[in-house]
Amino acid sequence: PHPSLVLNLNEIEELAQNVLTKTAWAYYRSTADDENTYFENTASFKRFWFRPRVTLLNFGCVVSLNKISRISTTRSMFGLPSSLPIYISPAALMRLGHPDGEMNATRAAGREGILQGISNNASCSTDECVSVKLPRQDLIFQLYMNKDRSASDVLIKKVESQGFKAIMLTVDAAVPGKRELDQRAKGDDLKDMPAAFGKSDTGGGLGVSHAISGYQDPDVCWEDIPWLQSITKLPIIIKGIQCVEDAEKAFRYGVSAIILSNHGGREMDFSPAPMTLLYELHQTCPDLLVDHEVYIDGGVRRGTDVLKALCLGARGVGIGRPFLYANGIWGEEGCLRVIQILREEIETGMRLLGVTSLEQLTPKMIRYVDRDPP
Ligand code: FNR
Repeated sequence: PHPSLVLNLNEIEELAQNVLTKTAWAYYRSTADDENTYFENTASFKRFWFRPRVTLLNFGCVVSLNKISRISTTRSMFGLPSSLPIYISPAALMRLGHPDGEMNATRAAGREGILQGISNNASCSTDECVSVKLPRQDLIFQLYMNKDRSASDVLIKKVESQGFKAIMLTVDAAVPGKRELDQRAKGDDLKDMPAAFGKSDTGGGLGVSHAISGYQDPDVCWEDIPWLQSITKLPIIIKGIQCVEDAEKAFRYGVSAIILSNHGGREMDFSPAPMTLLYELHQTCPDLLVDHEVYIDGGVRRGTDVLKALCLGARGVGIGRPFLYANGIWGEEGCLRVIQILREEIETGMRLLGVTSLEQLTPKMIRYVDRDPP
C-alpha cells in the first residue's frame, strides 16, 4: 500500500514482517530471552491514564474553555531545536532494509525538523548521512566504546569535525543480549551488505548482533565519562540507564542528558520498562526531572505514549523499530510517514487534553492505574 494508507505504527510492523528479508526482520525484531522486557515496554504505557481537562467550571458556568485550535509541538532537546518531542533512536544496519539505509531517515528527519541519532553500527557512513542532511539539520552520533580507546578518540574527533552536535554513549549493551530470533536467522546474507559496512569480525553463525559488535568494549565504565569529556567539547548523553541510582550517578558525572532505555528489550530481559522507571524517578527524585534532561525510549508507538512520558517529566522520547520497518517497506517516504503519524497523534492528543504547548503537560494530567487495563 501507499504509505499514506497506513494509519498507525503497529500496522507498519505487520506489513514489515511480510516485506523484509528473513535476516532483516529477525535482526530488527529480535529481543532478549523470553521477551518480557520487550512486551512490558509497550504494556507499561497502558497503566497510565489521562485526566483530560475540557472546561473550567465555576458554579455550573463555563468560565473558560481551553482554546486549542492553535498549538505548538516544538521542543528543544539535547539543546537542539525540534519540531516534535520525538527523535529517531540510533539503530544499526538500516541498509538491511533498504539500499539507502540511514540516509532515508536523515532525509525524513530533515523534512520534518526532528533529530536523528546515527548509530556507531550504521550501515551508511557518517559522510553519507551528513551529505544528505539539510544545512541547518542537527545530527547526534551514538558511540559504542571501542576496546581500543584511540579508535574511539579518532572517531569522535571525526564526527565533531563533521558537525555532529552531541555524543550519545550507549551503556546497556556491554555484550549482545541473547536474541534467539536473530541467532536462528544466522545473518547469512549479511555478507551481501553494501560496502560501507566492514565491521564483521565475530560472526560465526550467531546472528547479526554478534557479527557487528566485536569491537565494543565490555569493560566500558563510569570513568570513561570524564575521559570522553576530556577529549570532546560536545555534550555527552548516556543512553541505557536502567535504575534510579544510575540516573543520579550519571548527572553527578556532569553528563548533559540521560536516556532511560533497555535497548528496546534487546539486552537484559526483565530490565524495567522505561516508562515504569520514569515514574519511579518522578516519585523518588522529582527535582532531578526538573533540573536535568531525561529521555526515554522503548515501546513508544502512539502519540499518547509520547504525551504520557512528557506529563511525567521526560524531555522527549526516542523511536526505534518503526523507522527500521517503514524504511524497509518504503524507504525515505516510510520514515517520513512514521513522523507524520506521530505528529498527527501528538497534536490530536494535545487538543483533547486541552493544552496548546508541551510545557503545559504536567503529572497532574496523568494517573497510574496499578492493574492491567480493562
Ligand atoms: C537498536 N538500538 C540501538 N541502540 C544503540 O544505541 N545503538 C545501536 O546501534 C542500536 N541498534 C539497534 C538495532 C536494532 C535493530 C534495534 C531494534 C534497536 C536500540 C534503539 O536505539 C532503541 O533503544 C530501541 O529501538 C527503542 O525501542 P523501540 O522503539 O524499538 O521499541
